[in-house]
Amino acid sequence: MADNGIYGGCKESLQHVLDDLKGKIKQYSAEEKKKTGIKLVEHLIARIKEEDSMREKCRRRGLPETPESALRELYDAIGIRVVCAFRDDIYRNVELIRSFPGVQVVTEKDYVKNVKPNGYRSYHMILLVEAPYTDIDGNNPGKFYAEIQLRTIAMDSWAALEHQLKYKKNITNTELIVSELKRCADEMASTDVSMQTIRDLIREDN
Ligand code: GTP
Ligand code: MG
Repeated sequence: MADNGIYGGCKESLQHVLDDLKGKIKQYSAEEKKKTGIKLVEHLIARIKEEDSMREKCRRRGLPETPESALRELYDAIGIRVVCAFRDDIYRNVELIRSFPGVQVVTEKDYVKNVKPNGYRSYHMILLVEAPYTDIDGNNPGKFYAEIQLRTIAMDSWAALEHQLKYKKNITNTELIVSELKRCADEMASTDVSMQTIRDLIREDN
């Protein structure tokens, strides 16, 4: 049998589902801008997880490197990161995403309110999307999982820096580094609250 890769020939379907989700987010954000003047999405990153990193994740989770693992056991083959200017915008985006037709919210993790011990903040949603493309079970319309991460610019910068540091080897004073990273995350979160307050003050005035 021909080797269709870790996504078993579904790569095109995944790309379509990703593009459709991206389109829906851009659409509501344009509508919201017109209605309220608020730019709900500062920027957006969308990707299909690379073959190699999906295989690595399967191994890490003790799963066989198969399309079934990649598309039925793991949920982030399709990934979108919505970066917002202000903290409240995260929750407005979540509300709008929840109302997408044909989309079921499988899980939600609010790491903005329930901050991870290391200081990581972000709102995670796993969606099950029904869409007019062939899925791994051969169904059309098919079902596709997608992970959406929503964060502020400040949360996103912290996560990017922390991610880089995670892979540094031979770190000796680990405890100090961990607590300093946590301190930075908390300072950035407190700035997010101040910036939100400033926006609220300006909007009250208008
Ligand atoms: P994986 O971490 O992907 O194996 O899944 P999980 O079940 O632990 O889910 P979780 O929601 O905790 O994390 C999913 C994704 O969120 C990760 O793949 C990262 O992109 C991001 N993430 C979670 N925790 C951290 C963190 O501490 N630092 C950074 N930089 N990113 C994180
Ligand atoms: Mg994790």
